[in-house]
Amino acid sequence: MAARAIVVVFSSLILALVAGGASAQLSTGFYSDSCPDMLTAVRSALHPAIARERRVGASIVRLFFHDCFVQGCDASLLLDDASGFQGEKNATPNKNSARGFEVIDAVKAAVEKACPGVVSCADVLAIAAEESVVFLGGPSWEVKMGRRDSTTASFNGANNDIPPPTSGLANLTSLFAAKGLSQKDMVALSGAHTIGLARCTNFRDHIYNDTDIDAGFAKSRQPNCPPSAGSGDDNLAPLDLQTPTVFENNYYKNLVQKRALLHSDQELFNGGGADAQVREYVGSQDAFFRDFVTGMIKMGDVAPLTGSNGQIRKNCMRIN
Ligand code: HEM
Repeated sequence: MAARAIVVVFSSLILALVAGGASAQLSTGFYSDSCPDMLTAVRSALHPAIARERRVGASIVRLFFHDCFVQGCDASLLLDDASGFQGEKNATPNKNSARGFEVIDAVKAAVEKACPGVVSCADVLAIAAEESVVFLGGPSWEVKMGRRDSTTASFNGANNDIPPPTSGLANLTSLFAAKGLSQKDMVALSGAHTIGLARCTNFRDHIYNDTDIDAGFAKSRQPNCPPSAGSGDDNLAPLDLQTPTVFENNYYKNLVQKRALLHSDQELFNGGGADAQVREYVGSQDAFFRDFVTGMIKMGDVAPLTGSNGQIRKNCMRIN
């Protein structure tokens, strides 16, 4: 009997070890023993940066999205181009656009100081995104961790998998579905556009050529975004016209008034299948926060490297 019990315990141990390898799951307490001060370290670098410039909180939330949509949440986005290595930073959706990298590097440096070689850049980005949302007034959630960092990046993946602002509802839905996210997740996650700014090149067509836009709003955006391509391309406007540094449900209120800055945003309220969900979030910020959190957790689960795959980068900008 004793021998049999030992065999059972032993085989369970082997099973647990195997499961802990390549297919390990993310978990909320992942660093509770190996880096108990991680959150304090993250906040020590992140909070002053967002307090200095609130927009960078928005930029970090977007970095997490652009990381997870390209070969999973593996910090591939954070890798710099190097000789013989093409990263994602200069792909179309990121070039002259993705920002906040220096803040992620500062957060990683603070975490390295607390626990050298333990916490991945992919997890630093995941927790920094959640902490940014909270800092700007949005919901908090328990972030699952245990991701490891890639040794590769995908320039083509960044160009093909991240939705462009010219997308229609069907295209947005299918690009999210390709990452295992539903249309409901997509509509809730798009609420991140309640914070941050966009460049004229990304909303020019919408404010000059689209008809599903409030005329007064379109006019008000035009002086700072000249009609001809190449002039004022990088001029900025808020994605949420009232409060681009506060995380609430104003984004959806803009959509029902046809005051979305991006064509893709207005697609969520355009007489199609997402209208009811947009109206729900106009009526209930709690419902938006609940579904946004669900979406962020699901997005954080996209194809992570776990177990012995990948590495824990020392410096997020390059592989070890
Ligand atoms: C649904 C499809 C989406 C499209 C087509 C889209 C497109 C864009 C575009 C074009 C910009 C402006 C970039 C620039 O002009 O430089 C932007 C900004 C932003 N996006 Fe999205 N986005 C989408 C979904 C998301 C999601 C899921 C998140 C996060 C959960 C997100 C977070 C942000 C934030 C926070 C900004 C402002 C960044 C800043 O101010 O630096 N977006 N997005």
